[in-house]
Amino acid sequence: MKRLMLTAAGLVAGASLAAAAFAGPSYDAEGRIVIPQNMDRWPTVGTTYALSYEGDGGVTLNTVRLDPESYDAFVSTGKFPVGAIFQLEVRRPVEEIAPAKGGKTQGEVIGRSLHVKDEKAGPGAWTFYNFGASSTVGNAIPRSQACYSCHDQHAGTTDTVFMQYYPTLTEAHARKVAGK
Ligand code: HEC
Repeated sequence: MKRLMLTAAGLVAGASLAAAAFAGPSYDAEGRIVIPQNMDRWPTVGTTYALSYEGDGGVTLNTVRLDPESYDAFVSTGKFPVGAIFQLEVRRPVEEIAPAKGGKTQGEVIGRSLHVKDEKAGPGAWTFYNFGASSTVGNAIPRSQACYSCHDQHAGTTDTVFMQYYPTLTEAHARKVAGK
C-alpha cells in the first residue's frame, strides 16, 4: 500500500513537472494574453537592422525571441508546439556612445508584439498580440490587419513565422538531426 501511494505521488509529481515544462500562454477572462515574465531571458533567434518591410526605410534594431520550451521543442522536432510564443522587440538605434566612433547600438524600446501559436482560428493558426511598455496583458490584433497577410504570404509554409531571418534556430535543429 505504501509503495502504491509512493508511485501515485510520483505520478502526480511527474505530471506537474510535465505541465511546468511547457506552461504555454495564459489568458484573462476577456481573452487577452497575459504577458509572460522575464522575456528578456528567452533565447534570441534573430536580430535584424533597418529591415524595411515596404520600402519605407525602417531604421530600427529588432530582436526576436522564442520561449525556451518551444525553442527546445523546435530544435528536437523541427516543429513549433501549440502554445509557442515569439516576441518581437523593436528598439531605436543610437550612435556613437563612447568609445564607438561609428555603428549603431540599441536604444529604447519603441514597440513589442507577440506571435502565438494559440490555434484560436483553427488548427495551426497563430495570433498577433500588441502590448505597451507597462501592460500586463496584450490585445489580439484583428485578423483583418496587414500583420496576418504579410506573414501568411511571405513567411514559412506551415507556420506564419519568418524562419528565413532566424538562422540560429534552423542551424540548431540541423545539428540535432545530424546528432552533433
Ligand atoms: C510587410 C510584411 C510584414 C508586416 C505587414 C508585418 N510583419 Fe511581422 N515580420 C515581418 C518580417 C520580415 C519579420 C522578421 C523579423 C524582423 O522583422 O526583424 C517579422 C517578424 C515578426 C515577429 C517575430 C516572429 C515571427 O513571426 O517571425 C512578430 C511578433 C511580428 N513580426 C509581429 C507583427 C505584427 C504585430 C504586425 C502587425 C502590426 C506585423 N508583424 C506586420 C514582416 C511583416
